[in-house]
Amino acid sequence: MRMDKLKIGLFGFGVVGQGIFQVLGKSKNANAEIVGICVRNPDKPRAVAADRSLFTASPDAILGNPEVDLVVEVIDDARASYDIVRRALLKGIPVVSGNKAMLARHLPELIEIQRQHDVALLYDASSCGSIPVIRNLEEYYDNDLLLEVKGILNGSSNYILSRVFDHRDSYAEALAQAQALGFAESDPSFDIEGYDSLFKLVIITVHALGAYVAPERIFTYGISTIHDADIRYAREKGVKIKLVAQVVKVSDEHFTMFVMPEFVTPSKYIYSVDDEYNGVVIRGECYDRQFMFGKGAGSLPTASSILSDIMARRHDYRYEYKKSKFMQKPDYTTDITLRIYARYTMTDIPSVLRFTKIREQYAGEESNYVIGDVQLSELLEKRPQLSGADVFLANIPQFFLDRDN
Ligand code: HSE
Repeated sequence: MRMDKLKIGLFGFGVVGQGIFQVLGKSKNANAEIVGICVRNPDKPRAVAADRSLFTASPDAILGNPEVDLVVEVIDDARASYDIVRRALLKGIPVVSGNKAMLARHLPELIEIQRQHDVALLYDASSCGSIPVIRNLEEYYDNDLLLEVKGILNGSSNYILSRVFDHRDSYAEALAQAQALGFAESDPSFDIEGYDSLFKLVIITVHALGAYVAPERIFTYGISTIHDADIRYAREKGVKIKLVAQVVKVSDEHFTMFVMPEFVTPSKYIYSVDDEYNGVVIRGECYDRQFMFGKGAGSLPTASSILSDIMARRHDYRYEYKKSKFMQKPDYTTDITLRIYARYTMTDIPSVLRFTKIREQYAGEESNYVIGDVQLSELLEKRPQLSGADVFLANIPQFFLDRDN
């Protein structure tokens, strides 16, 4: 354990950066000090009062400062984040990062740099805000009995769905509110189109199964096209619509992953996960299901996860990536059947998507829907044609009934 004060170089002073500043101030035992803050515009007025002399616009002022022994990176721009994290690691400076878009794209390279340069990169805050999902997957579930990690990984879209579904707010109002509360990404389409959940799922899978799958290989469908007709349908059936990300072992040799809205029945843990909360269900061979619940977005919840990684560095903690090093990794497959609900008006979904079985079909004045079985590979292939504003898809988790949570 390190006894002297940890000197932090902070990159980014937005919602999360300011939260870190506050959380470090609240923690009496952190014994850590921010010695520099790199931002695009040091002169911008900020709600949280930090000494003006700490601010710089030059990454080199932090990366070249020999006093800095930990870089904390919480900037918005994935490209700039990659550059900073890579440069810090190559210099042997450990990093705590919250940038899921960057990590999901560059983890294999960043894992290799950590190994080659014997330096640590921690990123629990990147996935599920305050829920310590990465470190738990890495340390507690460090065996091959894990079958599935499934959950609500994005606070903003969950907030929107809760407001629309439970409080009958309009979609636009709910989105504006998620932005005002600091939950949404600066480009909220990442939240509502499912990409934020996707990036988190990619990172989670590295620690759940030891396998990396590039984001573009994973079927991702969001909530932006949800319509009153879908909400009415879900209410009639007594279910909620949630944006769910999942990685599932479908056999000893294979696993699958996807992100899409899902009809969730009241008996499921994630049914009660509302507002900006996230919920992660972990299923294993010997313990059936475990459930982690907590705030998934927002300044202080995310900053608390960063604080946990900062404290872990006091004890020289690092991820060992044990599963990818020592376990037989399953292979990724999209060769599985899903049962889906597809609502459409202009785009003739039954002629776009090859259903292996149609179970129900409805044609109405306002819209139509079809419920049927379709291969995940088919959804992935046809993804560009499913982007019409008149189409909404939801998973009906029939095919995972024995694993359904
Ligand atoms: N925009 C993200 C969310 C922030 O809403 O979950 C936390 O990663």
